[in-house]
Amino acid sequence: MIPHTEFSPIEFSGEQRSNSVRLTIARQEPVALRTFTPSQMVLARSSGVFHWTPEGRRLYDYSSGVLVANLGHNPVRWMQRFARYMGWPPSLQAATPPESSHESAPGKGTKLAGDEFFSAVTMTAYNAITPIEAEAVKRLVKNVQSWPGGKRLDTVMWAASGSEAVQKALWACLHRDTSRDMILATRHGFHGKKGLAGAVTGSESDHDRDMRVKFIGFPMDEVDDASRLQQPLDLTAYRNELDGLWNQFGRRLNCLITEPYLGGGGSYHPPAAYHQLLEAFCREHLILFILDEVQANFGRTGRMFAFEAYGIEPDFVVLGKGLGNGVPVSAVVGRGDVMSALKYGEASDTWSANPLGCAAVLATLDEFEATDVLEHTRQLTPLFLAGLNRLKETSLVAKVRGEGLVFGIECADCGELTSQQVAIEIVRAAYLGNDEGEGIHLLGPLAGNVIRISPPLVMTFDQARASLGLLAEVVSQLAERLRGAAVAS
Ligand SMILES: Cc1ncc(COP(=O)(O)O)c(C=O)c1O
Repeated sequence: MIPHTEFSPIEFSGEQRSNSVRLTIARQEPVALRTFTPSQMVLARSSGVFHWTPEGRRLYDYSSGVLVANLGHNPVRWMQRFARYMGWPPSLQAATPPESSHESAPGKGTKLAGDEFFSAVTMTAYNAITPIEAEAVKRLVKNVQSWPGGKRLDTVMWAASGSEAVQKALWACLHRDTSRDMILATRHGFHGKKGLAGAVTGSESDHDRDMRVKFIGFPMDEVDDASRLQQPLDLTAYRNELDGLWNQFGRRLNCLITEPYLGGGGSYHPPAAYHQLLEAFCREHLILFILDEVQANFGRTGRMFAFEAYGIEPDFVVLGKGLGNGVPVSAVVGRGDVMSALKYGEASDTWSANPLGCAAVLATLDEFEATDVLEHTRQLTPLFLAGLNRLKETSLVAKVRGEGLVFGIECADCGELTSQQVAIEIVRAAYLGNDEGEGIHLLGPLAGNVIRISPPLVMTFDQARASLGLLAEVVSQLAERLRGAAVAS
C-alpha cells in the first residue's frame, strides 16, 4: 500500500462530485489554506453528529469542525434562538426571492426598487454599539464568573478568531506595564499562527522567534497515556525552570500563557498540580496568568471552562471555537483593570463585537444553561476511553489520552510504515468506512502521529457505541491489510 502524502492530488474512485469540488479548490486555492488531510472530505450537508458527502455517504463527525460545533451541526433550537436574537422574521425562508440566480442579480437589468429590505438587527456595527452586544457581554461575564475560578474575569474584548483574541490578551498585558516586556509560554503549545499568537506558539527551536518570549516545559512524556495520570507528577524540574527564568529576567516577565492541555501539540493533558504550580508562580511575582481556552471552552473538558476542571483562577481566559458553535467569534474575558491600559482603537477591528457573533454567543449560552450537555459529556468520557483503548489491540494505536470529549490516539509504526503514515492510513480508512460506505470523519493527524477524536458533545450513547464500533472495525481491517502487505513484500 502506498500511503498518501502531502503532495498527492486527493481523489477517490467513485466520487465524481466530490472530486470535482476538490479539483476546483486545488486549482484556485493554495494548499497552504488548509492543513493536510488524506481524506479531504467534501461536506455536502450536516446534521447533529453526521456529515454527508455529495455522493450521499454518511460519516460520523469525530472533529466537531475543529472543536467548534460542540452542540452539533445545525441544531434546531440553537438556530431558532440565533435567528430570534437577530430579529429575523420566520417568513424569510418561506419567501421566494424574485431572482434566485446570480446571473440575473441587480446590476444586470434588475431595477432597484428600494423596498427589498426587512428590519432586523444590523449585521455590522463598526464604530457603533448594539443592544445585543450589551446583552452578550453581560451574559458571558455572568456565566464565566458563575464557575469556580472565574471571579477575576469581569471584562470582555471581542475578536473574530482565536489567534486574534490571544493577540489582544497579550497586548493588554504588555500595555499594563511597558517595563515588563517579556512573555512566558508553554513549549509546544498552539495559540495560532498570526502575530503574537504565532510568537507564543511552538518552541525556541522554531525559526524566526520573538526574543520577548521564553518557553517553559509542559508535561508530555509523563502523561503520554491516560493510564499514567494516576501517577503523581514530579514538579521539581518545572518549578526549577520557572525559578531560573525569574532569577534571570525578574520583573521583565509580564505574563504567562498556556493551554489547559496541549491540543495542537498532540493532546497532552496534565494533572491539575501542574497548572496550580504555574498559577502560584504567577501570583508570587505578579505575572498575569492567561489561559487559552479557545479549544477547551464550552464543555470540551466536561466542564464549561477548563479553569474549573484544573482548579485554577486565571487573570484572562481566551475563548473561541465552540463559543459561537459555528459562527466566527472569539473573546478575551479577563481583568478590566489590565485591559483599560489599552486606549481607544488599540484593540478594534471590523468584526469584533459584530451582532452575528453576539447572537451566536447568546444562543450558545442559552443551550449550555438550559440543558444537561456538560453532565452528558462527562458520562461519555469513560465510554470513549474504553472504546479508544480497545484500538490498542490492533497494534496500530500505541497510546490514548484525553478528557471530557477530546482525545488523542497516538499511532504506532507498522511494518515499513512509520507511525505518521499509519495515522494517515487510519484517517483514510475511516473516511472510506465499512462495506455500506458509512464512515467517520477525522481530521488529518496532528503533531505527526496523533489523531484527534472530538465529536460533538451532544452525541447520544447509541451513536457513541455505534461509531466506536465502526472505528474498531475499520482500524482492525486496516491492521490486517497492512500486516498482509508486509508479509507479501
Ligand atoms: C488553543 C488554541 N488557541 C488558539 C487557536 C487559534 O484559533 P484560530 O484558528 O481561530 O485563530 C487554536 C486553534 O486551533 C487553539 O487550539
